[in-house]
Amino acid sequence: MSPAKPNRPHRAQPHPAAPLTPYGNRPMVTPIVHAVNYEYLNFEVLRQITDGEVDGYTYHRDDNPTVRAVERQIAALEGAEDCVVCTSGMAACTMVYLTYLRAGGHLLLFHDVYGAHYKVSLILERLGVEVTWVDAADWRTLAKHVKSNTQMIFLETPSNPLCKTVDVAAVRRMADKVGALVVVDNTFATPYHQHPLELGAHLVVHSATKALGGHNDLMAGAVAGSKDDYDKLWFTRQAIGCTLDAYSASLLERGLKTFPLRAERMAENALAVAKHLAKCPGISNLRYPGLKADEGHRISVRQMRNGFGGMMAFDVGRTQDDAKRFISALKTIRHAVSLGSTESLICIPFLTTMLYMPPERRTAFGVRPNSVRLSVGVEPVGDLLADLDQALRQAKCRRR
Ligand SMILES: Cc1ncc(COP(=O)(O)O)c(C=O)c1O
Repeated sequence: MSPAKPNRPHRAQPHPAAPLTPYGNRPMVTPIVHAVNYEYLNFEVLRQITDGEVDGYTYHRDDNPTVRAVERQIAALEGAEDCVVCTSGMAACTMVYLTYLRAGGHLLLFHDVYGAHYKVSLILERLGVEVTWVDAADWRTLAKHVKSNTQMIFLETPSNPLCKTVDVAAVRRMADKVGALVVVDNTFATPYHQHPLELGAHLVVHSATKALGGHNDLMAGAVAGSKDDYDKLWFTRQAIGCTLDAYSASLLERGLKTFPLRAERMAENALAVAKHLAKCPGISNLRYPGLKADEGHRISVRQMRNGFGGMMAFDVGRTQDDAKRFISALKTIRHAVSLGSTESLICIPFLTTMLYMPPERRTAFGVRPNSVRLSVGVEPVGDLLADLDQALRQAKCRRR
């Protein structure tokens, strides 16, 4: 039996950011529509809405005009036909898994993806999905893990937390051999620097909590792809009920207005910080795709534009205590999880984003107890360099 069809076909017409007021002018900001339900003027209107003939709304779990406005903006940023926005980045990833994986199917996943995928993979295994984990550094040999039942390859590039680069076009060629879907989480790179759909991905996922929102004040997720994917993902979102609330959508729209400016500044700052750290005693295993010495630099030059993003990873001193002393001494750079915000954020993945993985899995692909992940913000770059220098001096770390 074919799966039930969504009851709301895709609406392709581009719409203005905000509806006209009764006076014929337009508010500069998309109104926040808090309504859960909408009164039908008559049954003909109900029919037109459910048949997708008019851009109407019925119930928040189905759709919301404030959310729809940001969906169109993120689709445009990613060069996608459309986009589905939901309550968090992990909700977006889980929607993708639930929509495209089947019991008996096989999911290829890189170790170097956001830590919560490990938890979701345990649920998927309970549902009969076979999961294989591969080191992102080994993408060249991915073909040996691709099987006839492989339904999806899910990756991040640059990866989380070690900023490894994966060649998306090469992965797509391997996926095509068995008709698997290639899904790229573009949260680290952001659409300012990288368009995975152009590189060969079928779908792009975002934690919009990060650089798209940009201010540490909202949680949201997004999946961008074709109109057909929109319909399928919309069906899942409507069914499981993870539609974003209108207020968060409005905050996200506000974040999107300055997103290119912030992304540009973060990348400029990050390059300067990475070049500086490369010369600092006490720092080792520095990974930033913008550094010529970085393993992924050549591929990143091909895949990324306008710079290389704001994310980097490195080891501090020799022990976790060294890394802790360094982080505790920082003043401008804040000790917190999350990334892509106006403030620079630093954390020890071993103790945070990867905490719930078994310890041997945390170190299986290069993360060490003293590895740190740095998300560079938009502060004056001199302040960031001075902060790093004073913290390294205070922490008295020696090179590994
Ligand atoms: C790369 C990446 N993808 C997805 C997620 C999950 O996003 P959220 O926290 O919005 O659920 C995160 C969270 O840190 C992330 O770093």
